[in-house]
Amino acid sequence: MKPALTALRAGDLVIMPTETVYGLAADARDARAVAKIFAAKGRPRFNPLIAHVADVSAAVALADMDSRALRLAEAFWPGPLTLVAPARPDCSVSDLARAGLDTIAVRVPAHPLALALLRAFGGPLAAPSANRSGRPSPTTLAAALAETGPYAAAALDGGPCQVGLESTVVSVLDGPPRLLRPGAVTRGQIEDLIGPLAEAESDARRSPGRLTRHYAPQAPVRLDAAAPRPGEAYLAFGPCPEGPATFNLSASGDLAEAAANLFAFLRAADAGSPVAIAVAPIPGTGLGEAINDRLRRAAGWVG
Ligand code: TXA
Ligand code: MG
Repeated sequence: MKPALTALRAGDLVIMPTETVYGLAADARDARAVAKIFAAKGRPRFNPLIAHVADVSAAVALADMDSRALRLAEAFWPGPLTLVAPARPDCSVSDLARAGLDTIAVRVPAHPLALALLRAFGGPLAAPSANRSGRPSPTTLAAALAETGPYAAAALDGGPCQVGLESTVVSVLDGPPRLLRPGAVTRGQIEDLIGPLAEAESDARRSPGRLTRHYAPQAPVRLDAAAPRPGEAYLAFGPCPEGPATFNLSASGDLAEAAANLFAFLRAADAGSPVAIAVAPIPGTGLGEAINDRLRRAAGWVG
């Protein structure tokens, strides 16, 4: 913990575990530190970063959260939900971290090490997933180190990430709330609290992350595959015979288990340099919406 704090205070980067995926963290108020994140990831500067904070009151100091945003925060924080709200005029997060937008994304992560780091640091941490831009998010420290380790001055080992997919992103601005990125907090859970969600706008200014290619392994990805073809690796779901390049996301057909395994198994399948990674059909309900979103992006079906 101490080397991580020292690094953050010096304006350097730290690999930080969260319950979703590993993040690459910097002092969100320090534009020079934030610039190191964009450089380490090769991330386009129009794509803003999430400000991680220790609790709701720290979020309210950055973002104008209306009653809907507060209801969501109270229900799901700490946890895998990111809220996009208008930035307060006195918001301390650097323009660079916000990509110059008048909004800000805030989240309180549920991992004990992330929370301990945030409390000890006492300020917001900008932290994207610790992968190089366009690659699958790391769900173990080893995967994070392999992606952006050389750019980090310190790293915290929080074990494998429990959720395994990035947080749900909901924007709560004027008008209806919008689902910008499906995740472990499901559409249904959100709609139960604040009513119907609108689809994300195509307006890139409002959901800039949707412009970039995401989550892609080296091998091409073939979806809805009932079985692998010769030379393919296979991500199975449900009962399936074992094979040398078969990785079963969940033999019992459990979506939470499949989400937790998804990125690690994409990496493992990719490591064998298969002609393609075939993926079994996965139901689109509940957490399945987020899993299928990431798979379509890995297959290059979505911008
Ligand atoms: O689970 C997570 O959210 C992980 C962990 C480390 O917290 N972080 C993460 O960060 O996935 P990143 O940068 O890989 O994804 C953040 C997403 C991007 O799609 C970005 O475009 C969007 O949030 N975002 C950030 N600020 C935004 C804003 N002001 N308006 C709209 N979208 C925003
Ligand atoms: Mg990311």
